[in-house]
Amino acid sequence: MKKAFILVFCCCFAIFQLSATEGMWLPLLLKQLNEAEMKSLGMKMSAEDIYSVNRGSLKDAIVHFGGGCTGEVISGQGLLLTNHHCGESRIQAHSTLEQNYYANGFWAKNLAEELPNPGLFVTFIVRIEDVTKAVLENVSSEMPEGMRQLQIDQNIATVRQAAQRESWQETLVRPFFHGNQYYLFVTETYRDIRLVGAPPASIGSFGKDTDNWVWPRHTGDFSLFRIYADRNNRPAEYSPDNVPFKPRHFLPISLDGVEEGDFTLVFGFPGATNAYLPAIAVEQTIEIINPARIAVRDKTLAVYDEAMRTNAQVRLQYVSKQARLANAWKKWKGETQGLMAAKAVAKKRSYEQDFQQRVIAHPDWKFKYGTLLDELIAAYKNLGTYLQSLEYATEIGSRNIELFQLANAFSTYVNILHNNGTDELRKRSPQLVAYLENFYKDYCPEVDQQVCTELLALYMKKVQSDYLAKEAIEQSNAYGKDYALWTAELFANSVLTRGDQVLQMARVKPEDLVVAVSKDPAYLLARSITETNSERLIRPVSRIRQDIDRLQRLYMEAQMLVFPEKRFFPDANSTLRVSYGQVVGSDPRDGIRYKHITYLDGVIEKYVPGDYEFDVPAKLIQLYQNRDFGPYAAANGKMPVAFTGSNHTTGGNSGSPAIDAHGNLIGLNFDRQWEGTMSDLYYDPNICRNIMVDIRYVLFLIDKFGGASHLVQEMKLVHPKKSAANPPARKER
Ligand code: ARG
Ligand code: ASP
Repeated sequence: MKKAFILVFCCCFAIFQLSATEGMWLPLLLKQLNEAEMKSLGMKMSAEDIYSVNRGSLKDAIVHFGGGCTGEVISGQGLLLTNHHCGESRIQAHSTLEQNYYANGFWAKNLAEELPNPGLFVTFIVRIEDVTKAVLENVSSEMPEGMRQLQIDQNIATVRQAAQRESWQETLVRPFFHGNQYYLFVTETYRDIRLVGAPPASIGSFGKDTDNWVWPRHTGDFSLFRIYADRNNRPAEYSPDNVPFKPRHFLPISLDGVEEGDFTLVFGFPGATNAYLPAIAVEQTIEIINPARIAVRDKTLAVYDEAMRTNAQVRLQYVSKQARLANAWKKWKGETQGLMAAKAVAKKRSYEQDFQQRVIAHPDWKFKYGTLLDELIAAYKNLGTYLQSLEYATEIGSRNIELFQLANAFSTYVNILHNNGTDELRKRSPQLVAYLENFYKDYCPEVDQQVCTELLALYMKKVQSDYLAKEAIEQSNAYGKDYALWTAELFANSVLTRGDQVLQMARVKPEDLVVAVSKDPAYLLARSITETNSERLIRPVSRIRQDIDRLQRLYMEAQMLVFPEKRFFPDANSTLRVSYGQVVGSDPRDGIRYKHITYLDGVIEKYVPGDYEFDVPAKLIQLYQNRDFGPYAAANGKMPVAFTGSNHTTGGNSGSPAIDAHGNLIGLNFDRQWEGTMSDLYYDPNICRNIMVDIRYVLFLIDKFGGASHLVQEMKLVHPKKSAANPPARKER
């Protein structure tokens, strides 16, 4: 009896350990799929409190921020919280060496001081509907892929047309489960978004690349914006007459802090995961894709690092570009290590064996899916022959050399002039000028030239000769493989490296500029590399990918049939999702225990005066020394900084709210821990942890450090734990 009990207990525990927190779930299906489990983990709300179409719910406080991050509304006047790294390029754009908001922080004292950000937008989700049936109408399994997609596109257009919406709302339809299901989203997008506050970068990105993707963490990774609307509270382009937006819901903020075991929910827009790939695809990521991408960025980042450490101007110009390149670069490294440590390939292989056994034991399945896995593996093998060249050529051709990116941007204008003539080009020239101003503000040709030297060498070495651009081969030979000389002449002879001249021409006579660019040596080389890439690599690869997409769709369908006991979540696709779990530390390696929380003490421990990554503002040190934490300290008297949880998150979840059992804000998601960065491909519940800034640190920084207490006064601060112990609830402020 006792033994049986222990066995049952262990099994439950094992199941909890294995399945409790994997997944990024669709808000409209929570009731059906997740509510019971969420309650068992401590949630006190209902699924309807999280997502409702009939009344205000948590989802009405969540926005897709600029299409890549998440943000949440935290006051009745449209105050918006997101990460520092999500607002970084905007904060940087408002900064100069003389007025450096990026370095020194920024706090608008009133609405009039809030700074507009052209091009920035946030999107709310009004409603989600399952439209699978309508989208797959008249689609049969015998259809060739091209026809199938045509039919689907037509059906989607019909569904979007028919969707009920207000005139200012928009619709989109997205595939889920590799195209086995489709959902419709009705959205509202606001385009007047102003910067309200940001801590100095030494707090907002404290620890920079060294600490990025790593626990224990001490970054105050937040910034504040405000949504503005027209007089009817509807979306409007920027106007000084716009007013603060009034949300259907905003998140109250808990001052009670977190303890290990507390329920947490992360609500946001995760970008992309690939949880259902076959082993071979994961193997290719480990062996080919990640190493190629890492090798290219190793070179670029070494050049940036050197220049940024020695030159303040370059540091400000390149900080955002560097952060973007370095972020993915470091993640790929962690991902590779994590996949190997978790033995993900071997585990996927054994899952595939299991799958195959079940399939052949069942006559219908055997008929339909019997050869599916073999076909899928063959398609990936086929892809594998292109991968190394493809990854090197795309990283080099379009992501690391700025001069090539500029040249490629010009190709649009070269085409306009060629096809539509001078008048049309002149009509478009304000856009061109805006693009060029933005580009040259942060362009240092000397830095880019060094990057180009390194990367042309890599291009010639690593891309298979059949896929190399003819011009590159000729020039490389002409210079006898002296890449420094080749690049030096390329940069010296290109007009594109002379920003003043280019801008002057763009403003006065854009047609002359475009003609000059079309004959420019850098333009010609960049175009020839880009065109060769697309003809010889991207085109054949996309044919194989079409095949892979079809097979992955069938494989997904089959897995869902063959493993009925398994609960499947749809891979992230930049749509609104709920992840849930608990505040919890981890045992990442033998002999190491990670606690769930860090404190300001750790910031001081890491402090390196004057350092590019680990400097700390004097005022923060002073507040620390005086223990001047206001009402924001933890019960132990310390100032909490960050905590980890078992919420399954990915890129795009940055800025997502961490929400407590009652629906209050307790933290701000911004990262994952190193040992678990493989979670996009393989989630291990024991190792994968998301990292959140403690909301008490955010409030402390706004109020005590930034002196912006008027912003805290706008918010609604609550004590859910204290009031549960001691009803009725008392509201602070
Ligand atoms: N790794 C986090 C994410 O993927 C944070 C990135 C921002 N921090 C940085 N040092 N670049 O976005
Ligand atoms: N830091 C990521 C983001 O910017 C979140 C993650 O990948 O965990 O969305």
